[in-house]
Amino acid sequence: MRTSTVTAAIAFLATSLTSQPQPVPIAGPWRFSTVDRPDHARTDFSDASWALIRSGSSWERQGFDKLDGHMWYRARVTIPSTLRDEAEIKGAIRLELGMIDDIDQTFLNGALIGLNGTDVPPGTQADTGSLAPIGTKWNTARSYTIPSDDPRIRWDAENVIAIRVYDSGGPGGLWSGDPRFRPLSLSDVLMIGHAEAPFREIDGGFEKTFDLHNRSSSIQIRGSLVIRVVDGMNGSELSRSTRPLLLAPGMTSPVTERLSRPNTSTLIVYQATVDGFERSVVSQDEVPYVLTPLPNDAPRINGPSVVGARPDRPFVFRIPVSGERPMQYKVDGLPKGLAVDQRTGIITGRTPERGVYAIQMHAQNAHGRDERVITLNVGDKLALTPPMGWNSWNVWGLAVDQEKVVASAKMFAQKGLADHGWTYINIDDGWEIRGDDPRPKRHPDGTIVVNEKFPNMKALGDSLHALGLKFGIYSSPGPLTCGGYTASYGYEQHDARSYAAWGIDYLKYDWCTYSRIAKDGSRAELMKPYALMRSKLDAVDRDIVYSLCQYGMGNVWEWGAQVGGDLWRTTGDIIDTWESMSGIGFDQVANAPFAGPGHWNDPDMLVVGWVGWGPRLRPTRLTPDEQYAHISLWCLLSAPLLIGCDLTRLDDFTLNLLTNDEVLVIDQDPLGRQATPKLIKDSIQVWTKPLANGSTAVGVFNLSSTARQVRVDLEEVGLPTSVNFRDVWRQRSAGRFSGTATFDVPRHGVVLLRTIDR
Ligand code: GLA
Repeated sequence: MRTSTVTAAIAFLATSLTSQPQPVPIAGPWRFSTVDRPDHARTDFSDASWALIRSGSSWERQGFDKLDGHMWYRARVTIPSTLRDEAEIKGAIRLELGMIDDIDQTFLNGALIGLNGTDVPPGTQADTGSLAPIGTKWNTARSYTIPSDDPRIRWDAENVIAIRVYDSGGPGGLWSGDPRFRPLSLSDVLMIGHAEAPFREIDGGFEKTFDLHNRSSSIQIRGSLVIRVVDGMNGSELSRSTRPLLLAPGMTSPVTERLSRPNTSTLIVYQATVDGFERSVVSQDEVPYVLTPLPNDAPRINGPSVVGARPDRPFVFRIPVSGERPMQYKVDGLPKGLAVDQRTGIITGRTPERGVYAIQMHAQNAHGRDERVITLNVGDKLALTPPMGWNSWNVWGLAVDQEKVVASAKMFAQKGLADHGWTYINIDDGWEIRGDDPRPKRHPDGTIVVNEKFPNMKALGDSLHALGLKFGIYSSPGPLTCGGYTASYGYEQHDARSYAAWGIDYLKYDWCTYSRIAKDGSRAELMKPYALMRSKLDAVDRDIVYSLCQYGMGNVWEWGAQVGGDLWRTTGDIIDTWESMSGIGFDQVANAPFAGPGHWNDPDMLVVGWVGWGPRLRPTRLTPDEQYAHISLWCLLSAPLLIGCDLTRLDDFTLNLLTNDEVLVIDQDPLGRQATPKLIKDSIQVWTKPLANGSTAVGVFNLSSTARQVRVDLEEVGLPTSVNFRDVWRQRSAGRFSGTATFDVPRHGVVLLRTIDR
């Protein structure tokens, strides 16, 4: 952590001025070049002929479609000396650039100031070679601290910011956030570390231990910390505690708080008041609250009511049943070639000839029985409902290994996720040999070499199938994956055969370095590699669900089904922030007509639970209400649901998010329509989704940062003027409404409803 060392070395000085100078946005215009030359950093370089670009959105999203490698951004900005002279904390200013995909070298007036999120001291020479080996920090906001007396800053004059960005594949550039210079404040010195600390479930409530840290090397922090628990809807105070605050320079001190378990939206407000400072440091947290009632002990058959398959292919299906074990299963109407294990409820065999087979499933335990017809539709389409599963990327990133995959599969069974329809266990990037590894990437016959983290893919596949689960994998049509690992270019047939030999049921095929191969950004070039791999997958003896991943280029939803895609990513990568999740989710409008059974829009994987994109994990930064909004919106959107968290660390809250059958059934509805917004007004959005049985699912979302009472005019959102609603998170009636319906919706939260007949 070089950043903090450099920061700590700056002599911070406190002032007691009340008004902070405003941050200075680097509004641009930003200029962009695809030519990589060291003199692009220089102040006197003329960038007038460069293309214009915006920050806060990848270059691919702005029409620079096929770009990987080293690119340059430049912008000019005047830095007023008030940032230095009138700041609450003096001694340094901060340059914030937002997220950069993948790697950055940042220059101020020709001198290097930061490298991939780490401050560098004055005089550091920039490496002009490839930045590739440094390693991506695509989802980390870049923030550089520059001492006020640093000669690299020109006060009250024009400064040139130049950023050399390396992108290894996929979307690239300054993709999220607003670049700016800002003064330092007390909150840069006094860190209240609650956001990184998890809520631990204890008897009847929660406990949370976090650090208070004084980052300054000179300022004494003396004052008090008030922790208030308040009602998330009306702001009324539920409890309050005050503790003294005494932190010598550099000191860290832990705080433990305990609170009872709420059943509605509840906030914690931390307010630190420090002697000598007029403004306090205020920060907010939300307490997890579980809305979903616990499942019954009696059997309940869950999951989709239709399953798609092709004729004469290996088949595995685990009947999703919640309820106490042991359970016995019986199935009537199974076509020839398929058999059920009555102890596990796993159906295996080979699929019959084309046709529609109504299969009657029965489950029985000591508390009762349940039965349900599931239709097996043997034809051309797989994924008749959006795939549900787990994928390694949002949690482990490139640090995935076989043990972690097996542990996730076990959790599907042990924690009951499989009982609610969760099926796929998908390895994302990182199972192949890295492109820069000297070892052979392929065997002499062309088959791909699997790295040491996955000693036996076939055995792994077998073990997943033995649990009744399905096995997914990842590759790219280019020579390398986005993570720089070996990919399928020129070896599509070999790879499809390997997948078949390992028992693969799902392939995520990620554009990445195919930019180096594609001739141009035309639709034909975008389609080509996807159609090629589909033809190879079709030639092997397996049903392989095909997930196109190319971030929505060329409106993939308009042609994804034509190249045999069962689903396609519509956006760049999601991260666990409200801005990212809501920005993606509420933007899924134009593609709605293209979703349907066998072909789904994919707004990317879920960011609930413990995530990390690498070996170090943390609880999602989404608040509980944001997580309710996330799952509700994805279900309304008929989105593929891929859990991206550590399943061995599922808490009650996350489990409730992922196992509410009345919520999941909205996603899995066989009609397969994607919700559309019926009202967008004053940070309120109402989305509706027609369901197969004639009822409608309705999401009332509050995108504002305060709780709202929302009055919905039923006619305005296309609903009958008199309607009965069921609150599907709470699994109980929400009441009958005529004309209008009023709901309390927490900040960044949702009320998810379904119309019912009576
Ligand atoms: C791209 C994809 C991600 C993930 C990574 C793996 O960024 O969009 O979902 O698969 O590549 O490197």
